[in-house]
Formats: sequence, C-alpha cells, structure tokens
Amino acid sequence: MSSIIAKSLYKSYNSVNAVDGIDLSVKSGQVFGFLGPNGAGKSTTIKLLTTLIPPTSGELTILGINAKENPLQVRHRIGVVLQQPSYEPSLSVEKSLEKYGLMWDVPGKIRKKRVEELLSDFDLNEIRKKKTEDLSIGQRRRLQVAREFMHDMDLLFLDEPTIGLDPSARRNLLDFLKMKVKDGLTIFFTTHILTEAEYICDEVAIINKGRIIAVDSPDDLKKRFGSKKTIKIHLVQVNEK
Ligand SMILES: Nc1ncnc2c1ncn2[C@@H]1O[C@H](COP(=O)(O)OP(=O)(O)OP(=O)(O)O)[C@@H](O)[C@H]1O
Ligand SMILES: [Mg+2]
Repeated sequence: MSSIIAKSLYKSYNSVNAVDGIDLSVKSGQVFGFLGPNGAGKSTTIKLLTTLIPPTSGELTILGINAKENPLQVRHRIGVVLQQPSYEPSLSVEKSLEKYGLMWDVPGKIRKKRVEELLSDFDLNEIRKKKTEDLSIGQRRRLQVAREFMHDMDLLFLDEPTIGLDPSARRNLLDFLKMKVKDGLTIFFTTHILTEAEYICDEVAIINKGRIIAVDSPDDLKKRFGSKKTIKIHLVQVNEK
C-alpha cells in the first residue's frame, strides 16, 4: 500500500514554479528521503503533502484519502515538523510536551507517560523545567521533533529535522525514527545530507528546481552518482603528474 500518491503536482508563486510537476509514490512502512539543494522545492512539497497549502494543480492521495476534498481527515492522521521553529517562549520543556498532547486530545494517563518517555528518548530530562526561550538551538529542535510524538499518527513529515543537532543527538534521532518505522510509522524526510539519507532511508528522491530528477534506493543512487565523483578525482590526479 502507498501512504502518499501525488500526480502532476504543481505549485506556482507568480512566475516561480516552486513545485513543477511532481509524481510521487511512497510505500507505507518506510522512510522516504527527499534530497535537494536550497530552493529546490522540498519545503513547498511538504506543505502541499500535508495540506497546509493548496496545489496550483494536480492530484493528491494521502493514506487513501483524497487530500484536496478532505484535508482535515488527512491532518488528523499525520504529523508534521516544519523547517521554521515553532514554540511558545515562556513554556517549560515538559509543559510544552504536555500542552501538545492536550491539543491532540491524548488522554491524561497516556499523556503523562509519553511526556516522560520523550523527555528520556530526546535527552531532555535535565532541562525539563527550562523555558523554551532559554534553550539552545539544538535543544529547541529536539523538543520540536519530540512534541510531534505526543500523538498517534500513521505518517510523519519531517523538514530537515537534524539541522542544528550535534552528531550524537543526530544519531539518536535517526535511531529513534528507525525504531518508530519498525513499529509501523511511515516517514517523509527532507535533508541536504546524503549520508543521513543513506543511514535512514529505504528510498530517496532527488529534487532540483521543483522537479524530481531521480528516485532510487540510497545504494543505487550512490552507484549512479558516486561513479562520476570518482572520475573527477582521477582527472585531477592525472593533471598533477
Ligand atoms: N510563499 C512563497 N512565496 C513566493 N515564493 C516562494 C514561497 N515559498 C517558496 N517560494 C520559492 O519556491 C522555491 C522553493 O522553495 P522551498 O522553500 O520549497 O525550497 P527548499 O528546497 O525547502 O529549500 P531549503 O533547502 O533552503 O529549505 C524557492 O525559489 C522559493 O523562493
Ligand atoms: Mg526548505
């Protein structure tokens, strides 16, 4: 089964085609990576797939639901962490998690249990009483991602979740995500970093200027694009001799 099916998806802003005719099929129970340079259209695609903005044209089915006709049904079953920071400055870390659970109508007992689990999983226990505005950038990002796991969902969209994280926090997050996928979650994940995609993704799409230029397993992408790099290095060595 596919969690995401997009057909000829377009999004234009005046003269710019931010998303320029994308076709996507993302299988359930996998991590799908979306890789591309600045301005490629990654965040715009996430906003389209999560129904936060309407497409200029195209068809979109999320978890079997027609997303254009039933955006609210879609939003109840997905999670999304956008690229820009979102937090309430005066709330403490634990209160922020708690409030997010309340917003999603998570029953009290489960809410409390999840807050404790997430504080531990995201290494936030030591700073649980700190106000969000006093957190470092990486701590804030960890909280922003942790919060999304307060509620149940079938499909999660993460827009560059590891930006600002130190190597150990990055590894922690990727391993946490892998575990969630084993439990049945599907993840759509954007990044600039190929090694990160390799570590976590089952399939990767490369996007540039609003168009998908390749979709493959990370290994096969490396084989296809990796060989070009080798030739380049070889030529430099020949010139030096
Ligand atoms: N609200 C908007 N109004 C006008 N142009 C926009 C808007 N949102 C995005 N764009 C343009 O669409 C293109 C794609 O932007 P997008 O944010 O999707 O890129 P991205 O791949 O997420 O880049 P980054 O890696 O920097 O986050 C860019 O040229 C951007 O300037
Ligand atoms: Mg972006």
